Amino acid sequence: KTSKKGFPDNFLWGGATAANQIEGAYNIDGKGLSSADMVAFVPKEQRTGGHAIEITSKQIERILAGKVDARFPKRHGIDFYHRYKEDIALFAEMGFKVFRISINWARIFPNGDDAEPNEAGLQFYDNVLDELHKYGIQPLVTLAHYETPLGLTQKYNGWAGREVIDCFAKYAETVFRRYKDKVKYWLTFNEINMMPLSPFTGGGVVIDRVENKLQTIYQALHHQFVASALATKLCHEIIPDAKIGCMLARMETYPYSCKPEDVLKAQHGNQMNLFYTDVHARGEYPKYMDRFFEENDIALHKEPGDDEILKKYTVDYISFSYYMSLTVSDSPQNERAEGNLFGGVKNPYLKASEWGWQIDPIGLRVTLNAMYDRYQKPLFIVENGLGAYDQAEEDGSIHDTYRIDYLRQHIAQMKEAIRDGVELMGYTSWGPIDLISMSTSEMSKRYGFIYVDQDDEGNGTLKRSRKDSFEWYKRVIATNGEEL
Ligand code: BG6
Repeated sequence: KTSKKGFPDNFLWGGATAANQIEGAYNIDGKGLSSADMVAFVPKEQRTGGHAIEITSKQIERILAGKVDARFPKRHGIDFYHRYKEDIALFAEMGFKVFRISINWARIFPNGDDAEPNEAGLQFYDNVLDELHKYGIQPLVTLAHYETPLGLTQKYNGWAGREVIDCFAKYAETVFRRYKDKVKYWLTFNEINMMPLSPFTGGGVVIDRVENKLQTIYQALHHQFVASALATKLCHEIIPDAKIGCMLARMETYPYSCKPEDVLKAQHGNQMNLFYTDVHARGEYPKYMDRFFEENDIALHKEPGDDEILKKYTVDYISFSYYMSLTVSDSPQNERAEGNLFGGVKNPYLKASEWGWQIDPIGLRVTLNAMYDRYQKPLFIVENGLGAYDQAEEDGSIHDTYRIDYLRQHIAQMKEAIRDGVELMGYTSWGPIDLISMSTSEMSKRYGFIYVDQDDEGNGTLKRSRKDSFEWYKRVIATNGEEL
């Protein structure tokens, strides 16, 4: 006998984006520069060692002096800044219940620590939010999605400086007050576990300016944890009917074999990944981090009151991105998985995307269960999807059956997890409209239901068109996940 339970009636179906990957208009209407504006396109042949984006102070100086001959695709995005009405109309046509955006902090406070916010920036998001409400689409807003104002990098070395907590709290308070009637779902830091992989992406931290890299990374993270808790406090005070959550790049980690060393390694990997949600949901540093800090000579500097803040202002829900699972092995001879930001070895049971990300729908059910068991808080999948090369036919149509298959299989596993008892609030697939890739700045790594005519060199008309997956997702939403 199989359970027939389906998605709850109020399930939030939609799509997710980030300001720096769609908006463009990087220097328009008073916007300041952010970390994403410093990231140049690197052709495939020149990419080394995974996708972590590292940048030195020298490089920043050269970029600002106009001495770097490169393209910066995140400055231009897909011109959502001027085309948001058309794009939102397409989301509405698919029946979106929710649309995830981020506010680009440097649009509101161009240097990060300005005395007054930039009205033109605030007005832009008012326009976007109003447009969403016109169609009954709930906004889900991320406060920080790899968009640290560059001014804060220059002044404080980004989140390495404790001063940035106050700057962030002021920014959060400003947007909570401004949008309190328009936004009821918030997220603090996108993939807060990005920091150890790329401190510049995760927190505007330039690593050549510090002596002890690991110490700086975990100190910067501590600042983000405190800032996240303070934002949670402010959100609850200013918008009592809002829900605010944290966001993790979830890496469900499997042992390569039942060899106890592999199992132990996987357990450790899961702990190092769940550390971030442990702090946000349980309100304290988990004990297993003590040993990690001790063995890596990390001595966190906490101010009096920090622990109380973390304990008191825990999140309402836990959100995460899920693209792949991770497999770890104690034996060095096992082949490494290509392209996975988080490392690991090849899982012989899984196929990988064209970028080497190991596709694992069942892993999503595993992780939903594991996270719900651990926290008993509502979960929200705020990113999932397949980055793929799309081929437009002569008539312009795009038959992206591979994308439909990927999403279908993941959504089917979400339904299983709901039947298992998991409380799942919603699902926003990543990049419902093609956008600039975070890790590679490519345009050709496409996730969308909506095709955007632009290539890796920035050529194209930017015209939007519907792929086959557009009609498919529309049907999924219309049937509340019954017809996949
Ligand atoms: C997540 C990020 O890591 O994955 C997004 O939150 C990103 O910003 C997405 O775009 C997919 O990664 P990529 O590198 O394929 O764009």
